[in-house]
Amino acid sequence: MPSLKDLTRRDVLAGIGAMTCTLALPFPASGRSRDSGVVRESTEKSLREHASRRGLLYGAAAGKAILTGNKALADLFVEQCGIVVPENDLKFKHVHPKPDEYDFSKADWLLDFAESHDMKMRGHTLVCHEFLPDWFDDVVNESKAQRRMEEHLTRVMHHFAGKLHSWDVVNEPLEAESWREDGLRDSPWLKLLGPDYIEKAFHIARDADKEALLCWNENRIQNEDPPSTRKRTLFLKWLRDLKRRNVPIDAIGIESHLTADGSPVAGENFKRFLREVADLGLKLLITEMDVADDSRPKDVAVRDRAVAQLYYHYLHTVLKQKNVIAVLNWGLSNGTTWLAQSKARADAAPVRPLPFDDQMNPTLAFKAIARAFDKAPGR
Ligand code: XIL
Repeated sequence: MPSLKDLTRRDVLAGIGAMTCTLALPFPASGRSRDSGVVRESTEKSLREHASRRGLLYGAAAGKAILTGNKALADLFVEQCGIVVPENDLKFKHVHPKPDEYDFSKADWLLDFAESHDMKMRGHTLVCHEFLPDWFDDVVNESKAQRRMEEHLTRVMHHFAGKLHSWDVVNEPLEAESWREDGLRDSPWLKLLGPDYIEKAFHIARDADKEALLCWNENRIQNEDPPSTRKRTLFLKWLRDLKRRNVPIDAIGIESHLTADGSPVAGENFKRFLREVADLGLKLLITEMDVADDSRPKDVAVRDRAVAQLYYHYLHTVLKQKNVIAVLNWGLSNGTTWLAQSKARADAAPVRPLPFDDQMNPTLAFKAIARAFDKAPGR
């Protein structure tokens, strides 16, 4: 593996040093005029370009509200991303707020934003244990569950049919600590429809959109602890079974919410898992990558180095697999990240999990991600 020490030494000098004297890191020579008030050097490629040189898509999660409320962030997405994914706007409770009422306005806005800036969009998410509306429990009982699932998936997918790159058809159906032999999470869908809800969802999805890649998106796959190892084993069992029975699944999403606490990730067992997924003919997407820094000291240089090292190690490992087609961060700028709430630091310092700081300047994580793309084999 190329030396991480190398990355650290060189980049701390070139990156952090430059940042602390307000001269930003080298930045994309996109030639686009920017009127967001953020002034930067424009001498380097965007993450989109670094990725596309290796045949990869790079992108990030956002939503109508944060992009319309922050011009500098919207400009950054246009510069850096080849694909966007709605962080929340397509979740069940947002897109289907009443039993017979759908609201596509926010996701439509995002699709229009993507299309008008030559970006793709992916769909997140259709069937999940979370993000259900208040009306769900009152309306969806066992006799109606199948019809309700069909109706929701068909309506939402038809609305975007032929326009989205991929869809997270099922989201986090497994749970590392599940007491069940099949590893399924105790989700309302499981209670209502039994374990078949997964294949039902994929069949409905394929009927509704023939073009989008249909994905099983899963969390906590990359760790080396026993629950994650068990989860990978059970996940593979599921994937083999679905493929054997010709269930229309095209890809898996590995969320990749990483934690810079020094615990081992992306080890031998994980690499074997990736190869076995490839052998099944499935594509892989890194769908929600970020790095929690709440266990690291407050010092920004120390924290940024730990975050960048983990990004590099993780991506360098994952991208060796040529069936990985896309890498998405869960947010792009540290100014708008879900980790500000879910992994807030005890010292109240702002978290720094993403490739750009809150002023839209690239952090050391940017360099680590760019370098991992550069080192990846082409596809
Ligand atoms: C998160 C969003 O980022 C938050 O804004 C929201 O409040 C909760 O959901 N795995 C997923 C995503 O699949 O949908 C989650 O997104 C993060 C974890």
